[in-house]
Amino acid sequence: MNQIKLHMRKFAVLNMKGGVGKTTTAIHLAAGLASLGQRVLLIDTDPQGNIGHTLHLPHERTIQELLLGQMPVQSIIQQGVRERLDVIVSTTASFSLERQLAAETQRETILARKLRDLSNYDAVVLDSSPAMSLLTYNALLYVHEVIMPIAMDLMAIIGARQTLNGINEVKSLWPERTLDLIAVLPTFVNANTIAARAAMEALEKDPMMGAVVYRPGIRQCIDLNYATAQRRTIWEYSPRSRAAEDYSRFVEFVNNRESARDYAIQEKVKAVVSGT
Ligand SMILES: Nc1ncnc2c1ncn2[C@@H]1O[C@H](COP(=O)(O)OP(=O)(O)O)[C@@H](O)[C@H]1O
Ligand SMILES: [Mg+2]
Repeated sequence: MNQIKLHMRKFAVLNMKGGVGKTTTAIHLAAGLASLGQRVLLIDTDPQGNIGHTLHLPHERTIQELLLGQMPVQSIIQQGVRERLDVIVSTTASFSLERQLAAETQRETILARKLRDLSNYDAVVLDSSPAMSLLTYNALLYVHEVIMPIAMDLMAIIGARQTLNGINEVKSLWPERTLDLIAVLPTFVNANTIAARAAMEALEKDPMMGAVVYRPGIRQCIDLNYATAQRRTIWEYSPRSRAAEDYSRFVEFVNNRESARDYAIQEKVKAVVSGT
């Protein structure tokens, strides 16, 4: 069957460990898909607010006002941050969301409900915090596809297992939802260190993650730090760098991969047609 595109794709970049390249990956996936011609919305669900810092955006209207119902989604979205790229930022004020939403019913699905009518995007990319917070549940109950960056060090697998547990918990509580880990993305890859090689080997042997490890991953590249400091993407700052090359390739991979949601729906249609 030909690949069909039924739905807006929705991605979360997730890992329960900090400093593994989540924000970097979310920004480059979103900006990369936009540069391929897609209309993209990038949403920061991490109260650290690093997306807004990195892209140097104002922060008067944030995900907090959206979730509290104080402003409609269209006035929260910052349009045209880059060509075809819009952004919803967050700030540290969102740390108090958990308490502010304590009395809400079905508070894990507020984000999904607020964003339900969005139709003018091809893809939505969510950055997330390294914790199974209320915001993270909201992220996982909105998206269908998860990308897990893993920094190639000896502690990598531990954070990854915790992340898988989080995904599996959501899947078991909401079994009808499509929520697929589409890529484990090795970051800070440095083939010269024993630690990085050991981490990569362990990852590839892992029964839960081995099959979705994206090779060769994103190499360690100091230019990513300089790009962040200058509030630019790696393609704007240093288009010939290793990281520019690696993130371009990863974006192509995600773009060419069939949407997990479309795949799930096609399988259901096939089952109905064949009467199983
Ligand atoms: N492949 C890489 N090589 C070198 N530095 C990187 C790489 N990926 C990310 N960084 C840098 O590491 C720091 C943490 O990355 P970040 O994306 O903020 O992680 P997280 O969101 O998981 O906390 C940032 O300064 C970023 O520029
Ligand atoms: Mg981050």
